[in-house]
Amino acid sequence: MTDSLTLRRPDDWHLHLRDGAQLAAVAAHSAAQFARAIVMPNLRPPVTTTAQALAYKARILAALPQGLKFEPLMTLYLTDALPVQEIARARAAGILACKLYPAGATTNSDAGVSDIRRIEPVLEAMQKAGMLLLVHGEVTDPEIDIFDREAVFIERQLIPLRQRFPELKIVFEHITTREAAQYVAQAGPHTAATITAHHLLYNRNALFTGGIRPHYYCLPVLKREQHRQALVQAATGASAKFFLGTDSAPHPARLKEHASGCAGCYTAHAAIELYAEAFDRAGALQRFEGFASLHGPAFYGLPANEERITLRRERWSVPERYPFGEGELKPLAAGESLNWRLEPGAAPA
Ligand code: DOR
Ligand code: ZN
Repeated sequence: MTDSLTLRRPDDWHLHLRDGAQLAAVAAHSAAQFARAIVMPNLRPPVTTTAQALAYKARILAALPQGLKFEPLMTLYLTDALPVQEIARARAAGILACKLYPAGATTNSDAGVSDIRRIEPVLEAMQKAGMLLLVHGEVTDPEIDIFDREAVFIERQLIPLRQRFPELKIVFEHITTREAAQYVAQAGPHTAATITAHHLLYNRNALFTGGIRPHYYCLPVLKREQHRQALVQAATGASAKFFLGTDSAPHPARLKEHASGCAGCYTAHAAIELYAEAFDRAGALQRFEGFASLHGPAFYGLPANEERITLRRERWSVPERYPFGEGELKPLAAGESLNWRLEPGAAPA
């Protein structure tokens, strides 16, 4: 049995860091584990200009504890009104990607895109500039069952989009279904996907175990066991199209434990340990470094990190809560034991 695991320092290719006191409360968790993270732009108001993205990046760097090295990779939030010229400006400023939220699909997505055809000139400019498109892949049609919204998105939106922009690099974010895993596996080399730790570890029963469990509610929502198994197979398989993206999405506990609770699971406190758990259960620790540290940089066209981290097999208990601005944060697996622990000495000084 392997009791220690050393790998290149991983990156998080999908992260919500929020802003202000909330940002200050969570940034160190991600920075202790990951070298870089793709930072989601769904603030209120959303990050829609290069200037806003650079200002946000500066706030993130300022929120890090002294000496903790971490590179936030910034993104722009696509709206119906984003001017085409903003793409060249963003690219020149080192912004790697734009995020497509179908309007109304999830947290702070009201300003998102109402119809993909409206932003075709922007997508054209992104394709030309080599900027990635990150997609929240769910239709918003209220007639469609919430558990089917991702599969329907593939048919209605993603397949036509892929055909219209064959060279555009697309990341299908936080996939949750067998259909999505199959689609990405057979799509050409410009399509990849991120997978969260919670979608590898839990199925939709977690939402209803002994009562309603709001801390397991995220979007896209957890699916049936057969889908979880398909995701584990994709993550632990040979394909380099699947990589780590936590979608760690902190909300104050009182807004999750609410009549209309917010979507989002907080996993940054133990992200790499949660993923290690999933790979270990699947007997696939030999594939872990590819998924966590190699496939993402390769798809984004960036070098892999040189630094190493070490995880040890050691039981430890996840804290029940963390401070979060004026409120508190209930992390995923709060109060439960995990079997892997990131060696503290391996964190940057
Ligand atoms: O569960 C989610 N929470 N899904 C998203 O797409 C957004 C995120 C958030 O920002 O809270
Ligand atoms: Zn997200």
